[in-house]
Amino acid sequence: MLHIKDLHAGVEEKDILKGINLEVKAGEVHAIMGPNGSGKSTLASVIAGKDEFEVSKGELTLYGEDITELDPEERAHKGVFLSFQYPVEIPGVSVTNFIKTAINETRKAKGMNDMPASEMLKLIKEKADLLEIDRKFLSRSLNEGFSGGEKKRNEIFQMAMMEPKLAILDETDSGLDIDALKVVANGVNTFKNKDNAVVVITHYQRLLDYIIPDFVHVIMDGKIVKSGGKELAHELEERGYDWIKEEVNA
Ligand SMILES: Nc1ncnc2c1ncn2[C@@H]1O[C@H](COP(=O)(O)OP(=O)(O)OP(=O)(O)O)[C@@H](O)[C@H]1O
Ligand SMILES: [Mg+2]
Repeated sequence: MLHIKDLHAGVEEKDILKGINLEVKAGEVHAIMGPNGSGKSTLASVIAGKDEFEVSKGELTLYGEDITELDPEERAHKGVFLSFQYPVEIPGVSVTNFIKTAINETRKAKGMNDMPASEMLKLIKEKADLLEIDRKFLSRSLNEGFSGGEKKRNEIFQMAMMEPKLAILDETDSGLDIDALKVVANGVNTFKNKDNAVVVITHYQRLLDYIIPDFVHVIMDGKIVKSGGKELAHELEERGYDWIKEEVNA
């Protein structure tokens, strides 16, 4: 579904991504790892279409369609979902109202009517139960005073509600206690099916015990320098990144 070929992107004069090649097929889970500042979040932002980054070279296609010129909303309507590393606060907008609006915007873009209120309520209840989200939480202002774990839980709730084709989760494990981690992983695992794909960016092998990746990629200095199966994550946990640097330089 997602094809990335020799992708170069950055800000103004600075190149951040320096030739990324990645193919994500329906039904797959990809994990992206790599040192701080290597370009992981930038890659997620570029796929989602955040306008602070400029693509200078390469291909980025979703289901064969070039999406480089589409704005983030258009990409979201085509099924791209990005969880934010630092989620924004929207005072006065509840968790539920935010997601209702997002869902109906996507339906509108597809020429559909708003989801009937009863159907929406049923969906919200189903997904909230699945993720063990308290009813009271759903009426709170979006991200206002949320704990780290609550923010992450809310993002997974948004993902479960939006049912994207391609979900990109950036650092979903940061600040999660072990129970929340399991709830998030359970959310991802329940969401996963043969028609969608997940790209999870993480520093810790621990999350990958719960969300089992088909592929693990290591990004260093804007390039994918190594790819492997889930055992690669274990190796990184044990050995760090220096040995890959040596391999790359050899
Ligand atoms: N808007 C920006 N303006 C200038 N430089 C940026 C911008 N966004 C990212 N960078 C730089 O690009 C590089 C890659 O950043 P990025 O956030 O993609 O790293 P990362 O791999 O996600 O790191 P971390 O593991 O710490 O989250 C860093 O050197 C960062 O400072
Ligand atoms: Mg990052």
